[in-house]
Amino acid sequence: MNFACIPRESLPDILCRMPKAELHIHIEGSLEPELIFALATRNNIPLPYPTVDDLRAAYAFTDLQSFLDIYYAGAGVLQTEDDFFAMAWAYLKRAKAENVRHAEIFFDPQTHTERGIPFATVINGLDRAVRRGREELGVSASLILCFLRHLSEEAAFATLEEALPFRDRFIGVGLDSSERGNPPEKFARVFARCRELGLRLVAHAGEEGPAGYIHHALDLLKAERIDHGVRCLEDPQLVARLAEQRIPLTVCPLSNVKLCVFPDLAGHTIGRLLAAGIAATINSDDPAYFGGYLNENYLATFAALPELGAHEAYRLARNSFQASFVDESVKAGWIRELDEFFAQQCI
Ligand code: ADE
Ligand code: ZN
Repeated sequence: MNFACIPRESLPDILCRMPKAELHIHIEGSLEPELIFALATRNNIPLPYPTVDDLRAAYAFTDLQSFLDIYYAGAGVLQTEDDFFAMAWAYLKRAKAENVRHAEIFFDPQTHTERGIPFATVINGLDRAVRRGREELGVSASLILCFLRHLSEEAAFATLEEALPFRDRFIGVGLDSSERGNPPEKFARVFARCRELGLRLVAHAGEEGPAGYIHHALDLLKAERIDHGVRCLEDPQLVARLAEQRIPLTVCPLSNVKLCVFPDLAGHTIGRLLAAGIAATINSDDPAYFGGYLNENYLATFAALPELGAHEAYRLARNSFQASFVDESVKAGWIRELDEFFAQQCI
């Protein structure tokens, strides 16, 4: 493929129009302030902010925990199956508009079951949106259940038990929430059980936590993909391992800047990850909180990093399909579409 014929001015348009997958999106992180207010009104839930703008103004985070505190509070307005449907449907419509062909969507059941919302309410609402997205929008999507790592492994086992009657509605499990002080080994047994059950395995690691957590997520949890993973660059042997074993990283640039993992996008290391041969992807993490959905992440990152050009755009989109958990034949179809899209750019 000849990428040299593509001028830099065309990049924004190409980034938006190219087919792509999103592999790191917390559905609760797609809950826009307007929807928080609408659901709070519908469900008679008082909010500590008088207006949508006041709520948005509170989104000034200094680290992961300061974000999580607001994010869990926002999720408190979700009460009914229709609320979960509305949240996921809004995301899927946005994904369609951004040329996302496939999304692997995280959800945090413990955030809701701890508030007395039945697991069935959560998964039935999300699953209804996923099915409708496939039928009406032509967007493929699947769900990944995340265990909250600030809670105990026992609580994760209990959540797994609650989830098993709905086993056909999610494809895998992940690990999210406060990373520091909650290392992967805390969840080794529950991940081993999930592996026996044939679930796909991912884990947040190396976002705020040290590079060693990435090794442990691979060795002790048998994670197939690492969410974030940007701190791998502190350990050259780990970089070599990720590249050799083709372990994908789901990187979230705007999130990293909002949570002060990097001071700004110009200092982001996604270009270095790609140059090191790592299968990095771009994702939005919690788009309603971090200032942009998937295309905004691509646009802002490419605008800030001159080393990223058309070839990197292609590689990132290709990696996103390659790193997904769909059948190889389906991946091949999307990659063919991507190849045709880029071939068209030089005609
Ligand atoms: N839950 C939602 N977003 C998260 C993030 N960036 N890291 C850990 N847990 C999360
Ligand atoms: Zn995340």
